Amino acid sequence: MQEDVVRRGRLSGERTGEINQFLSSMDADRCIADADLLVDIAHLMMLERQGVIDRENAAAIMKVLLAMQKTGVPEEAFSEHFEDIHAGIESVLIAIAGEDAGGRLHIGRSRNDEVAACIRLHLRDELILQLGLLVKLREVLLGCAQQHRESFIPGFTHFQHAQPTTLAHHLLAYEQAFSRDFDRLNQAYSRVNLSPMGAAAFASTGYRIDRDYTASLLGFDGIIMNTMDAVAARDFAIEVLSALSIMMATISRLCEELVLWSSSFTGFVSLEDSFCSTSSIMPQKKNPDTVEIMRAKAGSVAGACTSALVITKGLPMSYNRDLQELTPHLWRGARDASMSLQLLPGILSGARFDTVRMKTEAGKGLSTATDVADLLVRKYNLPFRTAHSIVGRAVKKGSVELKALDEAAKEIMGNTLSEIGLTQNQVITALSVENSVVSRDHPGGPAPSATAEAIALARDKLNIDHKNVESKKSGVSHAIDTMLAEAGRLAQ
Ligand code: ARG
Repeated sequence: MQEDVVRRGRLSGERTGEINQFLSSMDADRCIADADLLVDIAHLMMLERQGVIDRENAAAIMKVLLAMQKTGVPEEAFSEHFEDIHAGIESVLIAIAGEDAGGRLHIGRSRNDEVAACIRLHLRDELILQLGLLVKLREVLLGCAQQHRESFIPGFTHFQHAQPTTLAHHLLAYEQAFSRDFDRLNQAYSRVNLSPMGAAAFASTGYRIDRDYTASLLGFDGIIMNTMDAVAARDFAIEVLSALSIMMATISRLCEELVLWSSSFTGFVSLEDSFCSTSSIMPQKKNPDTVEIMRAKAGSVAGACTSALVITKGLPMSYNRDLQELTPHLWRGARDASMSLQLLPGILSGARFDTVRMKTEAGKGLSTATDVADLLVRKYNLPFRTAHSIVGRAVKKGSVELKALDEAAKEIMGNTLSEIGLTQNQVITALSVENSVVSRDHPGGPAPSATAEAIALARDKLNIDHKNVESKKSGVSHAIDTMLAEAGRLAQ
């Protein structure tokens, strides 16, 4: 077992397994082990370039770091008798390279700036992944919307049949929400991708370091200026978790609809078998388990966000070990969100919609009653409130046919609508689901012409967002490749 180089000077006595387990962040640190090596490499290159560490020692350390980088962080670095992966990697490094060289890597830094840098690097990759997945999800939604521009469905308020709309309109509502989720995560990215390195414990260091150089090696967009803030801040993580919670709340609403729509009450959609389960006792069952789990994941992500927020709320400046407890919530929240994002496009593109059934339901519940009231306003110049009352009274009588409308009008305004010229044919035309939907052709409306325009606009933004993700991805990998190539030269 490697000696823990961090503890050995100041502290004595072996710790019990329970204490180690309680204190160690090793489990969660598996997520940041690779990032830690990159931070080590960048820090070392900066120290050498600044003349803080000589070329020979730098080369000896770099050889070991690059070997680990190639083969993966060795398992012994993950032993739980180390408090964390930073202590683990440094201890293994010193065991291999010797203390005279390896013991110099931690000049001018602390685990406090180190861990913050690692979290930011890994979170940056997570964000790029999630942004890419959001682009894909939106693409699928737009594709489905395009296919279903003429598929009528009932629109609900209070889960009561309200007005007819199209499936395209409904799916586009989700696409818009996911487009805002993209924007939120994209903005969060700009606050994540900043370097805390050089902050050391919190007060920076007296060595002639170059914070900007370390930041640029790692592909960060800049540094976090105040060094106390650099180690103490976790608002970037809470911000990401909160954006993910909002996104998951939308995903959960969509899942809820897929549950409702696939029920035999509704019968609008059939999900692919691979996303469903059956019952161990009821052989006829096909249950939409995947979307149910996804609906629940929204709760888990919101829980992770709440945990992270509450962990930080009572902490004085600057670093407190409590911060370690926040990080696993971040990775758990990010994983639940990205797994959901990964599955959802397949669920949607494999969903079979029963357009006949949807159309039948679209006209139920007198869903076009508003159009009859609108007809009375437009054609016979009635005040909308009077028209609304007449149609409402007719509905109360159980019908919106001319006879019932006439009776209602007589009660409300003293004369019938037939008297002023209303015909049964006009009422029938107003009650048509197609006519109702097609007439709602304003920007953002359900009419097929309006959804065609909305899809085109959404595609334009999606293309820009897609390019944005690609450029982030290539910018980051270019920075890391360049750094590693330079690191290779230093190791010679
Ligand atoms: N494992 C620690 C964390 O995740 C790393 C920083 C430790 N710093 C300290 N001063 N004990 O926060």
